[in-house]
This record gives sequence, C-alpha cells and structure tokens, in this order.
Amino acid sequence: MPIAALPQTTVRVLGSSQVHTDSASLVKELIDNAIDGRATTISVEISSNTLDDIRVKDNGHGIAPNDRSLACTMHCTSKIRDLDELRDIGGRSLGFRGVALASAAEMSRCLTIATRIEGEETAAELKFDRQGQIARYLKIRSWLCRAHISLVKSAHLFR
Ligand SMILES: Nc1ncnc2c1ncn2[C@@H]1O[C@H](COP(=O)(O)OP(=O)(O)OP(=O)(O)O)[C@@H](O)[C@H]1O
Ligand SMILES: [Mg+2]
Repeated sequence: MPIAALPQTTVRVLGSSQVHTDSASLVKELIDNAIDGRATTISVEISSNTLDDIRVKDNGHGIAPNDRSLACTMHCTSKIRDLDELRDIGGRSLGFRGVALASAAEMSRCLTIATRIEGEETAAELKFDRQGQIARYLKIRSWLCRAHISLVKSAHLFR
C-alpha cells in the first residue's frame, strides 16, 4: 500500500506524540521498520558515542519512488488508512503511527535514506531536513543496486 496521510481524527485517537528519547529507541524503531519491510537480514552500526552515526540496513522491499517524499512526514504511513484498519493489523505490523522517521529527521542534523525497490536500476539516496522534506535526491549506482537494500542513517542526533 502506498504511503498516505492519516485522517486527523485517526491521528488524534492514536495520540502520535512518540519521540525518540535516546539512540536505542531510534534504533529499535528502525529495526521495526526493517521487519515490517519484510527484511530477513538487518545490520546496525553505531558510533562509539551513540549520537554521531547510526545506520540500520535491511534487505526488505524498500520504499517505492512515489512514497519517498512522504517517508519522513509526520502521520504518513503505508500500514493503515484509518482506525477501522487498526482492528486488522494486530500482529502484522510493528508500527503504524507514521511518526518514527519524521521524529528521527527532526532530531538529526542529517537523516539519509538510501533505498531501491525491485525493478529499479539504480538506488536513490535522499537527505531529509528537520522538517522531513527532501533536501537532496541522488541516484546511486553502487553495491546497493545489486540487492533490495534500504539504509537509514542518522547523523548527529540531538545536535
Ligand atoms: N526500512 C524500511 N523499508 C521499507 N519501508 C520503510 C522502511 N522504513 C520506513 N518505511 C516506510 O516509511 C513509512 C514511514 O515510516 P515510520 O517508521 O515513520 O512510520 P510507520 O512505521 O508507518 O509507523 P511508526 O511511526 O509507528 O513506526 C512506513 O510506513 C513505510 O512505508
Ligand atoms: Mg515505523
């Protein structure tokens, strides 16, 4: 399902005020996203001070080109459309509020997502500003192109 904004009524009921309190909570959210993305392999790299560099890489289905601009926008999710769908989602998704990446972008000096979906010849590398808007979009022809890998990188958390 493509990413779309949740209706305001749904947002209010969900009380989506979740923020990452520390690096560990951010890593947990990124791992949840990888699992929801059907990843079978996930790698985590963290700098020794836990703030300057956090990278979570997975081999799931990736983020489709049309969804990329909304990936870090508050209350935008591909997992539910409204409250009715909450009843059916139990056990199928670890997150559905559409806040984790938006919060991560807000809290990072630089949030980068590199991703590629099946059928794409190149991967895309997107840098998001603190408002969750794409600040830079690059096509990359690297090892990413050989597998469906997504990499989410947060640099300089809380700075
Ligand atoms: N590793 C990933 N692989 C594939 N899609 C992803 C990945 N990470 C994020 N996404 C996409 O970006 C969207 C936004 O992610 P985000 O974590 O902010 O929200 P969510 O997972 O829907 O809900 P929650 O905020 O509760 O985690 C997801 O709904 C999903 O479509
Ligand atoms: Mg999530």
